[in-house]
Amino acid sequence: MSAFLLPPQVAWADGVLSGGPLIRKSTRMQALAGVFSNQSAWSECDPERVVYDVELFDSPSAEGELYVGVTHLYAGRVGDEFFMTRGHFHQRREQGEVYFGLHGEGLLLLQSEQGEARLEYVFPGSVHIIPGNTAHRLINTGAVTLSALAVWPCAAGHDYASLAGGFALRVVDDDGVVQTKEVQNG
Ligand code: PA5
Ligand code: NI
Repeated sequence: MSAFLLPPQVAWADGVLSGGPLIRKSTRMQALAGVFSNQSAWSECDPERVVYDVELFDSPSAEGELYVGVTHLYAGRVGDEFFMTRGHFHQRREQGEVYFGLHGEGLLLLQSEQGEARLEYVFPGSVHIIPGNTAHRLINTGAVTLSALAVWPCAAGHDYASLAGGFALRVVDDDGVVQTKEVQNG
């Protein structure tokens, strides 16, 4: 066996990456201004609180290469709205992505350029094929960390600005029941 190269690894149970150089990025509450609907609830949150961490392998980033990373989205709410990622289109709109649920449970909010939104249930083993031209956001509706593996083209890039007005759906905790709400400006 010793003649073989040892590739990097992902621990399927919790999404911990190892065996290669990693890039890590924490997104804190203060970076998510305007993302949650209840502004006053957001302003009362600890600005330093980490809402999600992303870890990815620091791999070659040329056209045609792929990034592999894991998002760990913590459990929590701002007002009645569940913790979620900022969400984005890809800068290169035609580029897709695949998410794999590893730990916890939640929803993947997908939205077309025309503003049509849909939700996929994320759970350990779920596979989410995100087509091109589709914005995506993870939402943690559970009580534990939601961890999802993602594979995407390095050339895809992130376009956050096009969704500055928000997505067309919000997901809230209505006395222990997960509810979705349509938003007019989404
Ligand atoms: O490539 C992806 O779609 C993910 O790795 C996301 O970037 C990650 O979930 C963080 O979300 P966002 O980039 O919307 O803050
Ligand atoms: Ni993406």
